[in-house]
Amino acid sequence: MTWLVTGGAGYIGSHVARAFLAAGIDVVVIDDLSSGQAGFVPAGATLEQGTLVDRGFIDGVFERQAAAGHPVTGVVHLAGYKYAGVSVQRPLHTYTQNVTATVNLLEAMQAADVSAIVFSSSAAVYGNTPAEFVTEQTATSPESPYGETKLIGEWLIADQAVATALRHTSLRYFNVVGSATPEVSDTSPHNLFPLVFRALQAGQAPKIFGDTYPTPDGTCVRDYVHVADVAAAHVAAAQKLEAGIPLEPAYNLGSGSGVSVREIMTSMAAVTGIAFTPEVLPARPGDPARIVASGERAARDIGWAPAHTLDEMIASAWEAARAAGSPQPA
Ligand SMILES: NC(=O)c1ccc[n+]([C@@H]2O[C@H](COP(=O)([O-])OP(=O)(O)OC[C@H]3O[C@@H](n4cnc5c(N)ncnc54)[C@H](O)[C@@H]3O)[C@@H](O)[C@H]2O)c1
Repeated sequence: MTWLVTGGAGYIGSHVARAFLAAGIDVVVIDDLSSGQAGFVPAGATLEQGTLVDRGFIDGVFERQAAAGHPVTGVVHLAGYKYAGVSVQRPLHTYTQNVTATVNLLEAMQAADVSAIVFSSSAAVYGNTPAEFVTEQTATSPESPYGETKLIGEWLIADQAVATALRHTSLRYFNVVGSATPEVSDTSPHNLFPLVFRALQAGQAPKIFGDTYPTPDGTCVRDYVHVADVAAAHVAAAQKLEAGIPLEPAYNLGSGSGVSVREIMTSMAAVTGIAFTPEVLPARPGDPARIVASGERAARDIGWAPAHTLDEMIASAWEAARAAGSPQPA
């Protein structure tokens, strides 16, 4: 059995590729290395370097796999442009990378008779929701081109499933952190963990944006899940789809519990052994006070539950950040 992992040279995709290999599923990766790194692709997976914006390239990958006797039977589609803030300045780029690419992928899958897909969606489809706990029934209301393209990706896949025999689900990630191997770190220049680690590595005070939110300690509350747990959800979903068991169109990969930015900072000081006092800056416009998601539906249907503690997330992320040196620029 061989699955295609698009974006498999990226932070989450390389963890998904590792989890598939560990489950005995062969992996071919498509990645244009726009933000990923060839060195993140695990040994044992084949890297096909190219862009999903090129439909003919995707056809070629499916053809090469079939000719080699390893036809692709399913796809995890993680490739995409993920910076919500930047997407406001570059909407056409974001739509091309996230929507045009997904259309091309679905066309190529149909042509090659590949009929299962697990799609990387995002909490961004909910926007600045007032819901105390986000469930899959919470109204979607994306607030950036990025969030819109993720919702459109879900719709494209669901619509294609009506028209064809496509088996599918979309996994909505919240705050993905940690590393299952020190070789792979989160290289995002915008996420909290790399930002704090970059500050600590530079001997600077990490920043908290706003401490007057209506939360217990005034700082934003988020739902953090270890990337290894996120990767495990993909394996579980793929195995269900391979077995012909239908899944819901979307699942939240949430832990159901929230952690504040100040709590994260306190734990980071304890885990890293670096005492620091965060610098409090004004709140950033558009940052919701609290986003915490229920993962009950994923628990029910794919037997998924996050297994790692916050300290494990921080310790593994810190180890990977130190192994990588200073985080990469965007
Ligand atoms: N990191 C998070 O917390 C988070 C949260 C919600 C959703 N997501 C989604 O998860 C997916 C993976 O995120 P990540 O954090 O690993 O990001 P990442 O940037 O590390 O990985 C994305 C990968 O896709 C590749 N890529 C981008 N456009 C491509 C294209 N047109 N053709 C081929 N390859 C292309 C990049 O080179 C990179 O390796 C993304 O779709 C993102 O939107 C991530």
